[in-house]
Amino acid sequence: MGEPVEIDAGQVADQRVVYDAQRARCPVAHEDGAWVALRHAEVVAVASDPATYSSAVSARRAIPNSLDGAEHAAYRAVVDRFLTPERVAREESQCRAHAAAIVDALPRDATVKTIGQIGVPYAVRSQSTWLGWPAELEDELVTWMQDNHAATRSGDRSRTAEVAERFDQMIHGLLEDRRGHPATDVTGELLAESVDGRPLEDEEVVSILRNWTAGDLGSLATSVGVIVHFLATHPDVQREVRGHVASGDHAAVEAAVEEILRIDDPFVANRRVTTREVELGGATIPEGARVLVNWTAANRDPLVFGDPDAYDPVGHAAANLVFGTGPHVCPGRDLTLMELRVVVEELLARTDRIEPAPDRPAVRETPPVGGWARVPVVLR
Ligand code: HEM
Repeated sequence: MGEPVEIDAGQVADQRVVYDAQRARCPVAHEDGAWVALRHAEVVAVASDPATYSSAVSARRAIPNSLDGAEHAAYRAVVDRFLTPERVAREESQCRAHAAAIVDALPRDATVKTIGQIGVPYAVRSQSTWLGWPAELEDELVTWMQDNHAATRSGDRSRTAEVAERFDQMIHGLLEDRRGHPATDVTGELLAESVDGRPLEDEEVVSILRNWTAGDLGSLATSVGVIVHFLATHPDVQREVRGHVASGDHAAVEAAVEEILRIDDPFVANRRVTTREVELGGATIPEGARVLVNWTAANRDPLVFGDPDAYDPVGHAAANLVFGTGPHVCPGRDLTLMELRVVVEELLARTDRIEPAPDRPAVRETPPVGGWARVPVVLR
């Protein structure tokens, strides 16, 4: 269980190969001082037991991510109020307008950079419209997102903290403007929220917005890369999804999106810390130990999914862990699936075929970041 793994993630182009090999050797790996849950059963066990596996993993308080128990539930209720199906439905037409404009502006029969030309602008515009942020902030957000990604990739905690600090400063400025001129958009509404009978403090609003932005922007742009790459390299699935788009079957398009993300989950892992000694997958983990839930590995567990690369949106839906499970399950799931569905719908409705670019290969991201760094495609 505690043996070091032989494959160096940094030397393997596709980190999923590493995780698959690690998981086949042991359900819980012990590396760099952390215990990594790789199998579906152990990942679900950790995520479903917050009393044993606390989310209070760092000194920095992140709302609601780093909270546990009743405190988590109180803040989580605030977050959930902003992400209800009704609110998500209200955003759809704006997202569709952004997606349509982006796809219409792309060249045909020439190489398109999926993430840079579709994923990033779509994520930033959808996010800004949702939160009521000014269009002038878009460039700053794109730069921040790239720096945040690079910091995560570097594995350097002080760099990640510095990038988080910069975001806080950017948002503090925005909130000061709002305090003077109350607005009726989502950011304005969040400022008017309360928890346990008292108004949210600015620090708390900034923390909530940082988690939404980090979750939304980075993961959304990366997810567009994963989905478009999969469709371009799986013409049979692309044809099937085109059929769902043509018949207006929104649920089937969302199921396809979620299944493609299961096969290549770019949102790799979350952290926990143990509150007591515990047995997990045959390993004895001491109290106070760092634990990682590796969603990407769990989503490819053959014990649950058989061949992990087999595309089966209906059969695999119930066990899909792309949006996590347990009390911290992603509150942005409905919003994300709507946003990804809409961009896929607009992309497919406005093209006859999406093909991999013949001259430039797709390039994987650098672990620990998942998904693709570059997905060059040609729209026909
Ligand atoms: C492809 C896009 C996304 C993926 C794959 C994703 C995935 C996840 C996962 C796996 C978790 C569980 C974390 C844990 O157990 O520690 C999570 C939590 C969370 N996500 Fe997402 N997410 C995405 C997009 C979003 C969006 C759009 C938002 C909000 C606008 C969002 C907000 C959050 C928040 C606030 C949490 C923490 C919830 C809590 O601690 O109770 N995410 N997400």
